[in-house]
Amino acid sequence: MSEVVVEVRGLETRFGRAVVHRDVNLTAYRGDVLAIIGTTGGGKTTLLHEITGLRRPSAGTVRVLGKDIHNLHWREARALRKRWGMLFQQGALFSAFTVYNNIAFPLRELRTLGEAADERLIHDLVMLKLAMTGMQPEDANKRPAELSGGMIKRVALARALAVEAELLFLDEPTSGLDPVTARDLDKLLADIHGELGLSIVMVSHDLESVAALANRVAVLAEQRIIYEGPIEEMMGGEVASHPVIKRLLEGSRGAALRNRYPN
Ligand SMILES: Nc1ncnc2c1ncn2[C@@H]1O[C@H](COP(=O)(O)OP(=O)(O)O)[C@@H](O)[C@H]1O
Ligand SMILES: [Mg+2]
Repeated sequence: MSEVVVEVRGLETRFGRAVVHRDVNLTAYRGDVLAIIGTTGGGKTTLLHEITGLRRPSAGTVRVLGKDIHNLHWREARALRKRWGMLFQQGALFSAFTVYNNIAFPLRELRTLGEAADERLIHDLVMLKLAMTGMQPEDANKRPAELSGGMIKRVALARALAVEAELLFLDEPTSGLDPVTARDLDKLLADIHGELGLSIVMVSHDLESVAALANRVAVLAEQRIIYEGPIEEMMGGEVASHPVIKRLLEGSRGAALRNRYPN
């Protein structure tokens, strides 16, 4: 069995009286691309925030790279934070910063290059990540408002990769993109996954993107993970007749997955 990189056990989330998660369990393994899919408003983003320590769950434990992330000393938390990158749903770039300074931000903030980070070193790393995500050197001086939706996602990805991430979290990487740009981004993510040997945990309602990238899937519905496992087992197994999964996979929405995993 390969190494576990993310482990969620008995997680519960309440907003006042609304219960978003009850007894959520999830395991992600090194090298895999795990896609969390499910109904809109089902708590996918919230779960990702709880996995990355941005939000504390009402109950349960989250271990990332072996550490209980909601019970860490800040120093340990910072050290751990250098080992993953996160791509937020809306890109979440700093609008007042140039592309260059957006990508440099985690390097400076987390001091990944040591306490007295050399500007030349930062420069080389920023330009490398920019090139890696298919951007041009001259884009470094632009501000987010001057970028297209696809470019914003690429810069956000470059920023997520600025640290030497071994684990990447993606929240709806293709949302808001036109189909052609979305498929280009899938291809870039697949290349990066292959080249860097990263583990990826992604949230997406774009099943074409899931079909292109993921090998494992977790279905979040009815406040729980109702299925977790290899995609082909979900597509070919009895679980495919679960009403929620059936609805998720039918019609044009699920076509890419059905075509990729015919049963
Ligand atoms: N900070 C918050 N306060 C109250 N309710 C929230 C908050 N964040 C999310 N929710 C609610 O939790 C549910 C799940 O939201 P979210 O995790 O964004 O779902 P998804 O990403 O699956 O679409 C929604 O009903 C949403 O309104
Ligand atoms: Mg969401």
